[in-house]
Amino acid sequence: MNPIPAFGLGTFRLQGQVVIDSVRNGLEAGYRAIDTAQIYGNEAEVGEALAASGVARKELFLTTKIWVDNYSREKLIPSLKDSLKKLRTDEVDLTLIHWPAPNNGVSLEEFMSALAEAKSQGLTKQIGVSNFNIELTKQAIAVVGKENIATNQIELSPYLQNRKLVAFLAQEGIHVTSYMTLAYGKVLGDPVIRAIAERRHATPAQVALAWALRLGYSVIPSSTKRENLASNLLAQSLQLADEDMTDIAALERNGREVSPEGLAAQWD
Ligand SMILES: NC(=O)c1ccc[n+]([C@@H]2O[C@H](COP(=O)([O-])OP(=O)(O)OC[C@H]3O[C@@H](n4cnc5c(N)ncnc54)[C@H](OP(=O)(O)O)[C@@H]3O)[C@@H](O)[C@H]2O)c1
Repeated sequence: MNPIPAFGLGTFRLQGQVVIDSVRNGLEAGYRAIDTAQIYGNEAEVGEALAASGVARKELFLTTKIWVDNYSREKLIPSLKDSLKKLRTDEVDLTLIHWPAPNNGVSLEEFMSALAEAKSQGLTKQIGVSNFNIELTKQAIAVVGKENIATNQIELSPYLQNRKLVAFLAQEGIHVTSYMTLAYGKVLGDPVIRAIAERRHATPAQVALAWALRLGYSVIPSSTKRENLASNLLAQSLQLADEDMTDIAALERNGREVSPEGLAAQWD
């Protein structure tokens, strides 16, 4: 089983030619992991950009996420097959349940079992969850086993460090993927992040990303700009000092950006 790459490219909000360009520019800059989702409405464009790039499928790590409308046993696998067609591949590397959506009429046991079945059928190499709190992650573990939950992809940034959930996931050996590590750009103007960036001769985005990487999380920042895509990737070679990590730890402010009603459960 391939480990989840530390650095990937997010595609949320990016549509049409914008996502095609972003994926092409990302691949040219050296990204090999791409994060999409059924609800982003861009899997076909992502597939088109990947096909046009000439990068071999085996070099890529593709993640998609099942949307809440497709959680039933009857719909989950056909919907994933549809995603594969759009992405022009026989198998994705990782498929996540996008949101727990506790009241949408399909039990967690049903959608986790259907997801595990998709893995058994060879439609996805690994499976996992996204936006699951501790209790729901425990329930998912009870259905498929913790060794079958490759990651919990969660909102996590210097402003929302999610320490309780992260501690639980570490204890269970479930990898953390941080989404919106830049808090959709909000942390980039932070004076503490900016001061660290200055002393390390780095950009604020690199500092936030290097902070998450040093904590062992994967990151999937998105950008529509070629220069931001390339410079973000260089966060992998930025070594933050313990002092920088301590300064960023103090920025926690429960700064959650995303919590859609009906989709999210009670946060920890
Ligand atoms: N599982 C989930 O429920 C979930 C939810 C949200 C997101 N995600 C995933 O996580 C990915 C990342 O989240 P996100 O795209 O919402 O937010 P993000 O990565 O935190 O921030 C993206 C924003 O930051 C800007 N940015 C990126 N690099 C920059 C740089 N070096 N300097 C200045 N600005 C920069 C981008 O603008 P420019 O385009 O101008 O560079 C864009 O506005 C998504 O694309 C998606 O794949 C998952």
